[in-house]
Amino acid sequence: MMLTVTDLTRRFGGFTAVSRVSFNLEQGEILGLIGPNGSGKSTTFNMIAGMLRPSEGSIRFQGEEIGGLKPVEICHRGIGRTFQIPRPFRRLSILENVVTAAYFGQREDIPRARAFALAEEALALVGLPTDPAAEVASLGAAGLKKLELARALATQPKLLLADESLGGLDETEMDQAAEMLGRIRRDKGITIIWVEHIMGVLMRVVDRVIVLDHGEKISEGLPREVAADPRVIEIYLGTERIAFGEDGVA
Ligand SMILES: Nc1ncnc2c1ncn2[C@@H]1O[C@H](COP(=O)(O)OP(=O)(O)OP(=O)(O)O)[C@@H](O)[C@H]1O
Ligand SMILES: [Mg+2]
Repeated sequence: MMLTVTDLTRRFGGFTAVSRVSFNLEQGEILGLIGPNGSGKSTTFNMIAGMLRPSEGSIRFQGEEIGGLKPVEICHRGIGRTFQIPRPFRRLSILENVVTAAYFGQREDIPRARAFALAEEALALVGLPTDPAAEVASLGAAGLKKLELARALATQPKLLLADESLGGLDETEMDQAAEMLGRIRRDKGITIIWVEHIMGVLMRVVDRVIVLDHGEKISEGLPREVAADPRVIEIYLGTERIAFGEDGVA
């Protein structure tokens, strides 16, 4: 197993945002993590990536316990993440943003030329310009998402945590995002956990799905199994067309 999460729990005061969540991830898998707003998806990511310390439970990555390590330590072990709300350095160019990630994302110092090469490769993979003059201000919502991905990729992760759940992408952009994650796995062999709050496009790309609701794992399985699970249908009832897509992915 690449990642083994056991009874992961996070409380904020008296409120439990993630409650005894357990799952495994095998090398090369794309796992979808879905659930309504506030169900604990980003909190789960933030514990795996070290932004939040687990209240309880264990996170083992490649056989080593990483729960409670600092974000930089986790990054250096090979976990890259994107932020749900993009947070680029707005005064740096697109290329400089990714070079910075490439440089600080490695366990050891790398030469400047190597950082540029990694950045250019990551930008090409997501389809953003490698031109040093290209500005962050030129990017729309979809472009900023791609920049987040490029920054995560430039750290050379073995596991990528992609928090894509944000409105603001249209159908075509969602399709492109899905295609891109598929390509990242295929070309780079990177294992992926993909977070979304809607199911539509995600269901076509992922191998397996986990559904969170109120911080608890309520369903897990193949996309078609999960989409047919009465507990999942119940949560998404009322947003059924969005959840399953017009053509009914279920
Ligand atoms: N730092 C924090 N302090 C207090 N409560 C928090 C904190 N971070 C998250 N929460 C709460 O924990 C719950 C889970 O939040 P989380 O961001 O993980 O949800 P999510 O599944 O990512 O939702 P969305 O689909 O809207 O991104 C929410 O009720 C949220 O308000
Ligand atoms: Mg979130």
